[in-house]
Amino acid sequence: MYDLLSFALLGYHVVTLVSGYAVNQFTNNENRPGAHLIVIAAPRQYDTYYQRNYFNILQFDIDYAMKVMGKDNIVVLGDQYAIQILKRYLPDDILLESEMEDIWMRDPTTVNPYNPVQFRLTPASYEENQRAADRVQRAFSSFFKNLGVQFDETPKYDGYLMDGGNVVDNYNDKIVVTDRFLQDNQLTKAEAKQMLKELYRGVDKVAIVPTDDPEGLAHSDGMVMFINSNAAMITNYNYNKTLKKLITKELLDEFPGIELIQDADTWTSKAYDPKISSACGLMVNGVLTENFLYVPTFNNPTDISILTTIRGKTNRTVVPINASRVCEMGGSVRCLSWQQTGENARKIIEAARNDDYFWLY
Ligand SMILES: *[C@@H]1O[C@H](CO)[C@@H](O)[C@H](O)[C@H]1NC(C)=O
Ligand SMILES: *[C@@H]1O[C@H](CO)[C@@H](O)[C@H](O)[C@H]1NC(C)=O
Ligand SMILES: *[C@@H]1O[C@H](CO)[C@@H](O)[C@H](O)[C@H]1NC(C)=O
Repeated sequence: MYDLLSFALLGYHVVTLVSGYAVNQFTNNENRPGAHLIVIAAPRQYDTYYQRNYFNILQFDIDYAMKVMGKDNIVVLGDQYAIQILKRYLPDDILLESEMEDIWMRDPTTVNPYNPVQFRLTPASYEENQRAADRVQRAFSSFFKNLGVQFDETPKYDGYLMDGGNVVDNYNDKIVVTDRFLQDNQLTKAEAKQMLKELYRGVDKVAIVPTDDPEGLAHSDGMVMFINSNAAMITNYNYNKTLKKLITKELLDEFPGIELIQDADTWTSKAYDPKISSACGLMVNGVLTENFLYVPTFNNPTDISILTTIRGKTNRTVVPINASRVCEMGGSVRCLSWQQTGENARKIIEAARNDDYFWLY
């Protein structure tokens, strides 16, 4: 009787009896050693900007979530409409009802999953409208603070601007940002390096590379990706040898002994939004966790050989993620993911678990 009742109350969660004790088999395991929580968000039903690509984005979210399940932890955010669709394909206990105006969860959220900090979101994705950027960031923060998620907001209150997509980390001791950080905050390179080492706890090596996208978002996560603690892949800059030399020099100077590999050809494709260049072909837009490296693939003839090269240089398990459905919008796996660990991850995982959707049948 008790078990039947708890089964009913728990909805889809499977309850098994292990030597007399009821054990819930949840999808996420917040105690899995080294696991990161990856949080992604579906677009809002009436957001006209994403409407043309709505089902492609949802399909990507489903495919990506299924790849992460059992490796790291995953929570998918969406409004009622999105959850109604997602719950047909994904377990209820990883879905959390929340409307994110910005599905590019990397940018307005926090950086540094181990000691989360929040910078002020730049207006680069908001047609230079800082008030719009602030509004999006406030909505994010208030939802997650209500769940008990905590992060250091000092850099934001001190007025330091940076999108999460402009900081690439090895989650150990190194980060890479572009020189957009200097322009946005009127800092010299030396000042910026010193400041980032203070704000970004645990990091003592900072590289500041020239951007490859001066007219656009200027994020470093379309340029370089750590594949191991001292190995990185760089986007292919054969089209601009000066740029390639400057980037390589900065990385080698700041990260002694780093091993660098190069992405394949830069595959061009049409962009979803004429103001934002396509990210199709940029395999560097991946997500690194302690045990896994999720690498976007694009049905390009070089996907397999690049994956093989990466596998030879990392002790992480490399997991390809088909990003063809979303990359035209200007980003893919990394841009769409927020990463958390520890207590914050636990709070978000529990919120998704406790959020049941009985009204959706
Ligand atoms: C190549 O990169 C350099 C360094 O960022 C930049 O100054 C230059 O304008 C670029 N050249 C072209 C043709 O884009
Ligand atoms: C990868 O190697 C580093 C040391 O170089 C080690 O600390 C880490 O635990 C290893 N990770 C995996 C997933 O094997
Ligand atoms: C990747 O997704 C696209 C849809 O956008 C599909 O056409 C293609 O077959 C997929 N590739 C693989 C390897 O699954």
